[in-house]
Amino acid sequence: MLKGKKIVLGLTGSIAVYKSCELIRLLIKSGCEVDAIMTKSASELIRPYIIEELSRSRCITDTFERTAVFDVKHISLAKKADLFVIAPATANIIGKIANGIADDMLSTTVMATKAVKMIAPAMNPDMYSNPIVQNNIKKLSSYDDYIILPSGVGDMACGDVGKGRMAEPEDIFNYIKRELSYPKLLKGKRVLVTCGATMEPIDPVRFITNHSSGKMGFAIAEVSEAMGADVTVIKANTTAKIPAGLNILNVGCARDMFETVKREYKNFDYIFMAAAVADYTPLTTAKDKIKKSDGDMTVVLKRTDDILEFLGKNKTSGQKICGFSMETRDLIENSRKKLEKKNVHMIAANSIVSEGSGFGTDTNIITILTKDKKRELPLMTKEECAFEIISELIKI
Ligand code: CTP
Repeated sequence: MLKGKKIVLGLTGSIAVYKSCELIRLLIKSGCEVDAIMTKSASELIRPYIIEELSRSRCITDTFERTAVFDVKHISLAKKADLFVIAPATANIIGKIANGIADDMLSTTVMATKAVKMIAPAMNPDMYSNPIVQNNIKKLSSYDDYIILPSGVGDMACGDVGKGRMAEPEDIFNYIKRELSYPKLLKGKRVLVTCGATMEPIDPVRFITNHSSGKMGFAIAEVSEAMGADVTVIKANTTAKIPAGLNILNVGCARDMFETVKREYKNFDYIFMAAAVADYTPLTTAKDKIKKSDGDMTVVLKRTDDILEFLGKNKTSGQKICGFSMETRDLIENSRKKLEKKNVHMIAANSIVSEGSGFGTDTNIITILTKDKKRELPLMTKEECAFEIISELIKI
């Protein structure tokens, strides 16, 4: 998907600049052309030679090259970029761009490019939380052609702990890949995704749950975001890596999820009910830990509300809803029944017994069912499935 894409990578003076070597490696491996521009401070932290070796291209270092060649070069890089990425981006470069300052090679080229600009902040937590920096970040986010990547939380090179770490190279690479791969069909749309497994408490220690990892729901959320949507995730328990930067509402049990969906659903254009919601929950939850006795014990369960059915009944005009269906047998017949009974636009059905499909895997085999259509997809990554599912729902 990335073959031949032209990435211009800006490197600024944060210690995280060493991590960008890995980013360049990933980009080159996937077939991108990478041109790097380093600020003066970046080139003091890491030798431009290393960047040139990795990117297989000349690295532009700074205004010292302000010659006729420089002028041509900075405009040609600005024009050629399919995507402009600044990683790491210091408070300084963010401040300059936000205030229209173009006083070196990098800031001048950024100012001249019409490409989407992706910025991965990297700085000390106190700098990151400084209201001036936050205002600059907010200002840049308000422009359509700027994407500010979420910063990580953790130990910093300076010894401080907090928010401000540069996103990991692999995550930045995945943002780049998604940004360049998907059409912006959800621009201006709001998407709600539920994901994960609800946890139904028996007592303060035990609960009933299922194997859902949350991967499929996260894939829908990330691809929707890359397609331009404003995304909210209602997340029950998940074991998959939680993507940074998503707007997440955490819930516990099925009742919790139902209350949160009821409160939120009217604000969304598309809803993907990817969560594995318990159909039954303990009739009562013991206040104290249940002590064992010699005999067997029984936990009486009561039915939970069917959230998807509620959405099918109460959907607002224009709102489109997709449910998911997991089966071990009679996949199509059972899933079609759910489509009809729950009165939704689409069901993405998958059999958990097929190879490469089901809980916790990175791949899936989905059949998309709508009122008058059945589309069987081959084995794909969950991200690829997500794009197909979203695209089908948009078409309805
Ligand atoms: N679902 C829901 N609320 C529930 C149960 C399920 O909203 N209490 C939703 C799921 O999120 C999914 C769809 O309904 O989008 C189908 O879920 P699934 O577990 O496959 O089927 P069920 O409807 O629960 O029926 P069964 O368990 O009998 O297969």
